[in-house]
Amino acid sequence: MSVCLSCSGLLAFHPLWFPSLCSHFSVNACLMPVCQLHGAAVTTVEGIGSTKTRLHPVQERIAKAHGSQCGFCTPGMVMSIYTLLRNKPQPTMEEIRETLGGNLCRCTGYRPIIDGYRTFCEVISSFISGFLHAVGESLEPFRLLPLDPTQELIFPPELIRMAELEERATQTFRGERMTWISPISLDELLQLKSQHPQAPVVMGNTNLGLDIKFKGVVHPIIISGFRVRELFEVTEKPEGVCIGAGSSLSTVRSVLEKCVCSLPAEHTQTLAALLEQLSHVAGEQIRNVATLGGNVASAYPNSDLNPVLAAGRCSVVLQSREGKREVPLDKDFFVGFGKTVLKPDEIVLSVFIPVSRKGEVVRAFRHAPRKENALATVNAGLRVWFEEGSNVVKEMSVYYGGVGPCTVSAERTVQQVIGRPWNEATLSDAYRALVDEVTLGASAPGGKVMFRRSLTLSLLFRFYLHVLQHLKDTVRPPSVTWFYPTYLIPSEQLSAVERLPNIIQPSYHEFQDVPSGQSEQDPVGRAVQHQAALSHATGEAVYCDDFPRTQGELFLSVVTSARAHARITHIDVSRALSMPGVVDVFTADDIPGKKFRSFTGIDEEILAQGEVTCVGQMVCAVVADTKPHAKLASAAVKVHYEDLPDRIFTVEEAVEKRSFFLPQREIQRGDVTKAFQEADHIYEGEIRLGGQEHFYMETQSMLVIPLGEEKEMKVYASTQHPTMVQEAVAETLGIPSSRVSCHVKRIGGAFGGKLSKTSILASITALAAWRSERPVRCVLDRGEDMLITGARHPVLGKYKVGFMSDGRITAADVRYYANAGHTPDDSVLVIEKILLHMDNAYNILNLRGQSAACKTNLPSNTAFRGFGVPQTPWCSAGQLKRSEVSASFMILDIREKNLYKETSLTHYKMEFDPEVLLRCWEECKERSELDRRRLDVARFNQQNRWKKRGIALIPLKYGVGFAEGFLNQAAALVHIYKDGSVLVSHGGTEMGQGIHTKVQQVASRELDVPLSMIHISETSTSSVPNTCPSAASIGTDVNGMAVKDACQTLYKSLEPIRKQDPNGTWQSWCMCVCVSIRGHDLYMDWVKQEGRPYAYFTYSACCSEVELDCLTGEYRTVRTDLVADIGRSINPAIDIGQIEGAFMQGLGLYTMEELKFSPSGVLYTRGPGQYKIPAVCDVPLQFNVYLLSGSHNPHAIYSSKGVGEPTVFLGCSVFFALKEAVAAARSDAGLSGPFTLHSPATPERACIACGTRFTQMIPETETAQPWALELP
Ligand SMILES: Cc1cc2nc3c(=O)[nH]c(=O)nc-3n(C[C@H](O)[C@H](O)[C@H](O)COP(=O)(O)OP(=O)(O)OC[C@H]3O[C@@H](n4cnc5c(N)ncnc54)[C@H](O)[C@@H]3O)c2cc1C
Ligand code: FES
Repeated sequence: MSVCLSCSGLLAFHPLWFPSLCSHFSVNACLMPVCQLHGAAVTTVEGIGSTKTRLHPVQERIAKAHGSQCGFCTPGMVMSIYTLLRNKPQPTMEEIRETLGGNLCRCTGYRPIIDGYRTFCEVISSFISGFLHAVGESLEPFRLLPLDPTQELIFPPELIRMAELEERATQTFRGERMTWISPISLDELLQLKSQHPQAPVVMGNTNLGLDIKFKGVVHPIIISGFRVRELFEVTEKPEGVCIGAGSSLSTVRSVLEKCVCSLPAEHTQTLAALLEQLSHVAGEQIRNVATLGGNVASAYPNSDLNPVLAAGRCSVVLQSREGKREVPLDKDFFVGFGKTVLKPDEIVLSVFIPVSRKGEVVRAFRHAPRKENALATVNAGLRVWFEEGSNVVKEMSVYYGGVGPCTVSAERTVQQVIGRPWNEATLSDAYRALVDEVTLGASAPGGKVMFRRSLTLSLLFRFYLHVLQHLKDTVRPPSVTWFYPTYLIPSEQLSAVERLPNIIQPSYHEFQDVPSGQSEQDPVGRAVQHQAALSHATGEAVYCDDFPRTQGELFLSVVTSARAHARITHIDVSRALSMPGVVDVFTADDIPGKKFRSFTGIDEEILAQGEVTCVGQMVCAVVADTKPHAKLASAAVKVHYEDLPDRIFTVEEAVEKRSFFLPQREIQRGDVTKAFQEADHIYEGEIRLGGQEHFYMETQSMLVIPLGEEKEMKVYASTQHPTMVQEAVAETLGIPSSRVSCHVKRIGGAFGGKLSKTSILASITALAAWRSERPVRCVLDRGEDMLITGARHPVLGKYKVGFMSDGRITAADVRYYANAGHTPDDSVLVIEKILLHMDNAYNILNLRGQSAACKTNLPSNTAFRGFGVPQTPWCSAGQLKRSEVSASFMILDIREKNLYKETSLTHYKMEFDPEVLLRCWEECKERSELDRRRLDVARFNQQNRWKKRGIALIPLKYGVGFAEGFLNQAAALVHIYKDGSVLVSHGGTEMGQGIHTKVQQVASRELDVPLSMIHISETSTSSVPNTCPSAASIGTDVNGMAVKDACQTLYKSLEPIRKQDPNGTWQSWCMCVCVSIRGHDLYMDWVKQEGRPYAYFTYSACCSEVELDCLTGEYRTVRTDLVADIGRSINPAIDIGQIEGAFMQGLGLYTMEELKFSPSGVLYTRGPGQYKIPAVCDVPLQFNVYLLSGSHNPHAIYSSKGVGEPTVFLGCSVFFALKEAVAAARSDAGLSGPFTLHSPATPERACIACGTRFTQMIPETETAQPWALELP
């Protein structure tokens, strides 16, 4: 359960309406019911500043800090911080971090956003030195707009008048399917509830809204409690605090903070435990609206509050027209999934939290897949009450969340403890009882069965130590006057109760200097701000779905297959066609042109014809006047299936059934067989790497407008490949490409996911426009997008490695199986790239690689940043790790020993000089102070049993370019207008990588005019035809070069005019147009197994250190140092942004992001709730990036190098550091020898691999079908 918060806005209510609400609070629009907003002042990003009038400092600073790339998340970031500053103009760094905790960004890696907003802190002096290096001069205080709270928008006087004068009365809003009633008194609310017992009481809508929006739940009547004052009352009494059920979680937090500060410590145990949990519940925007009563009444199995409320002896007051009753919030209150003892006509009026008693200890713990803004995997509320002055337990409660359909009480376990002293022996009996009492079946929803069960034990252990600590401080037996050793926690055990480090340190970023003598006007090599950063920050930037609705516009919704492999026997569209607003329903039979698209020579159906081969395959499309109508109607289409046998999901099944997309690839160098015979040691094994969802913030979006003449169609699409969209639409409609134009203004993130998949969706949308002769829009919801459009290929690598006792790897034989899904898409290119990069930076003289794209009944996987490369060297690095174990070498030495050392041929016989690679490696070693820190890590691990550290240094050699020559070509069209302004069009699309900014810098240099005179409006197939995709890190290389050529030609053509009129101005010389085409000439001959598939290589090295909590598998990246060779950077700020963003995406790939499919092939992870990408809390606490100096590249513009993709791979430095930490934990657990850790190394995998006594206590589960498939 989660949202991305890109839609954050600010709300303010007049105190007359809502005395308990803080004056300004942020909310996310996607869950805020519009009916709830009566009387509210709503401020969006457009309202606080604009490029046309005056910028707000919050907008300016994110732009100046280079904290905006694609810009889709930027308004949300701006509004979150704006709200914070409205309430606290000089926040602390922790408050800034916490405020941004729930805002997701897929591009930047968050560091520049944090740095930009750090400038609002009262105390930034300690950060100043590194900090200013990080952001450049643009954030020096005197260059920034000052924040002046007196200039902020005031609460609108009309709303004040309205609050004062309007007669308060029940409001009723009626929609097509729903009636919203908002009473103003408790009596009325109870009356309505008794009249409509099935109608829910909506408060924050954070639970109800998700059901309505994403699960299609319809409530004919909804009763809002939002205006009923009694629900917001808070009463403090000596025996506890009574909090109105309507209080938001933010309000509850403030109330508890006040109580904890004012009450004696012994009374605050439950209050403090609740506070602890509240700081982890969701993000600020959700906490501002989600209510305490809503949390209790929703009875989530994972509620963070309910276990503490239950353990802490809290109660609720329930009320109906019949009267009030007070009910303890204990095991009997929660009766099943989402169910409590509430009667249908009752509401929760308030929650009572008693103060704790002398001798009582209450704690709350939680573990979640991401440190912040993620529902807990398992949480716990635990309370123990001791007999006065002793350690004998009088009373105890243990409640867990996440291990059953509702909050679970461990009663039998508690019985093991009551009446006994608090010591290891007692607790050992309790662990044993807990293993038997709190169990989960092998197919339990949510999976992670062993992990969840082990967490119940380790959280109890953590409680045990906390209580010991408490006893040490508070209990002193009468006979002992100084110190009582029973309560002493051995120092190495203390790490179980200590928190992981959390404080973000200043980072250091080293730019390259521009050459001395470069003109001030020449922007190349300078940290020029992203050309659209201010438009992003002010909300002025236009994305595809922002285009205003056109006359007669329709909306398209697709119907997708519910079966993994079946024959379609009938499609019944009759009900859908009769629904309001529906205009058309069509299938593949209605396609006038080609019914398929051909990628890499293999056909892929646009809409299924007769048979479906995965869940999520598009079957037909519904077109209606509005989005809700189209969605409702598409849900009403009935597709009848006859299941077919032989469903294949895993690569093992595909291998067994020989289910592959051809060709398979093979490459070999040296004599592998002989080398194995001569090797001192041989290891064989396998490594798995899971897939990765693109999770671009802007989902697939397009608008197709038939121009009504000569079959012309105009397509606005969020695509990386406008030419592919143009061709796909033309082929589908059976018209020439010249009749179709595709336009891309900007893209809200793409990462490879907006190539082939967008072209298919555009074909379907164009068909709808063609048939209806009206404009048609298609914008996928997040869940649909994730279901339909595929992801990064999961890969299984089976390897055999031969190496010598001195650590040299002499032979490697690897077979890679990529799970391609049900259609080929780019899979063959991906498996080729896997083989081309299998050597990474290592010179293995006898090397054999084979790769196959496995055809399975899962959604079709596709291109993703790095295009197979992040899956490959990861395997070879994994092999090296294995070899270390037996050869007794430090892994670092083995990596170093096997690096390419001198000019060499790759395994595809391409010559290169590794000098720059070795410089990156050495510089990274030095910058990261690796030698010293390795010793520190070893010392730390010796001193701590439950926290372990690991450090890893990883090299990278990355080939830039497409092996297919035609994909490396580009064109540009440059208009110089008579007023001297310049309009540049090129084939690259702006998706956040800053290509337009860099191209502007190129044009500015070449034409010798200021940057401000160069404009780039959009990418369009009518301006620049036959473009290559913006992918493979070559966008700036090829398009920049084309623009350079075009500008040089123009500049030359102006030469005679300039000569004729040497005193003229730029404006007086101008008037010309030119086109230029440029590209790399690259190839790969797979028969000869040789080629020059890359224009050049780029190199880097990255060192990461992590700290791991062995009890939960949670970890923190303590520090990352990354040295990157990007030649001579055209724009160091943009390049560092790309490097950091890619690294964070890699960190997500290797340690967090998990796609989960049901045993019948249904994708479970269909939104930010189930699929976790890195958030602010995942940024390395210290993240230093150095651009290698003195590197040149004759193969690309101004000696620069491609930067978008390579560093995704370096996220694996975190994976390998984690593996080191796990190895240290295993050693303490008495486990030695090699062990496997698959990627992503999620907390679940890391914790289980640690082999603690708690994971070892969990018995093997029965062999029932697990909840999710084990992929690849
Ligand atoms: C992105 C996101 C992240 C989240 N993360 C966490 C988390 O980390 N930990 C956690 O514990 N929770 C989390 N939640 C859940 C959240 O705390 C609950 O959804 C919220 O507390 C419910 O309150 P609400 O006011 O929004 O309820 P609503 O959605 O308005 O209502 C929910 C249900 O409760 C009923 N209800 C509400 N108030 C009353 C009342 N006074 N009397 C009777 N019935 C009532 C409604 O009828 C409805 O059935 C998250 C939710 C979201 C959306
Ligand atoms: S800039 Fe944050 S998602 Fe693109």
